[in-house]
Amino acid sequence: MSNSGPGKIVDLDQATRLLKSGELVAFPTETVYGLGADALNKSAVAKIFSTKGRPENHPLIVHVADFQVARTWSAGFSESAVRLAKKFWPGPLTLIVKRADFVPPRVTGGQDTVGLRVPAHPVAQQLLVQFGGGIAGPSANRFGKVSPTSAQDVVEEFAGIPLAVLDGGKSTVGIESTIVDCSGNSLAILRPGFVTAEQIFECLGIMPRGRENDSPRTAGTHKSHYAPNAKVILLPEDEVDAFFLQTTRSESNRYLACFSGRPPQGKNIVWHPVPDDPAELANQLYSLFRQADAENFTHVVFVQPEQKGVGTAVADRLNRAAARFNG
Ligand code: TXA
Ligand code: MG
Repeated sequence: MSNSGPGKIVDLDQATRLLKSGELVAFPTETVYGLGADALNKSAVAKIFSTKGRPENHPLIVHVADFQVARTWSAGFSESAVRLAKKFWPGPLTLIVKRADFVPPRVTGGQDTVGLRVPAHPVAQQLLVQFGGGIAGPSANRFGKVSPTSAQDVVEEFAGIPLAVLDGGKSTVGIESTIVDCSGNSLAILRPGFVTAEQIFECLGIMPRGRENDSPRTAGTHKSHYAPNAKVILLPEDEVDAFFLQTTRSESNRYLACFSGRPPQGKNIVWHPVPDDPAELANQLYSLFRQADAENFTHVVFVQPEQKGVGTAVADRLNRAAARFNG
């Protein structure tokens, strides 16, 4: 491939061939699109970091076809990890487990653990079965930008780079997988997602801890993660009216108001009602961020979701997007 030009849509056979020959292939999953490389090919994995502009010590998730293959990438699954895998795989869950000896340090960020995921997306499944190995894949966006939820998002994100993209339609979950650290003595959710703490409790009878520190080696801990260029504003529901009535807003600002209920009053506001169900909002969230940027909104306003179920994951992404401008 040449070093310039647009991304191109490839089919399953081409995608498999490219991966086997050490090239990158962006591929669909039900959460978001991944930027895939043969996890055992050093130079292919190096391309992930250079293409994304991602710091080298950030570990990558390895995607595999099923639980049996996942086991071979680990030094052992704890009893809890086995139960979670059996209950939620294939699906939007990543398990952090002790790595097998052969897993390259570039993939694990030099740690003794590896993140493993069996995605449910049928095209991802076909690719993994046909490829046979592990596909290392972060979300297919430039470092710190919004994760892509369609093949078109990926092509636009890497405009000018001749990246091969396998099109599997729109991602149905819309936000990144839940990451559960099963490598220590207790369980911790490193990144909330569509698989909720409540479901994990139901499966194990143990409530996992939340993330305790913001190490850059763990999930999405950079402030700029998940953020559009527009400023994200998060409001408690009962402050929405006051915000739009009382805030002095500059003439040059344009607000995209993403909440249900009543349309906000005021100039330079476009109301875009979104579903109250946090799972449905999750599905639209990154498209909304992209739309806000594409249409040159300066601000996107959301109502703070309730911190339970999938709402916890949506609140996490919104808080991170909003935090970018606070520090
Ligand atoms: O839904 C998803 O998880 C998507 C799709 C493509 O699978 N992938 C994704 O990858 O979101 P990425 O790299 O954007 O986010 C994975 C997060 C990173 O923040 C990384 O630090 C963390 O997982 N991670 C990976 N391996 C880890 C490990 N061994 N220990 C702790 N954190 C790990
Ligand atoms: Mg990411």
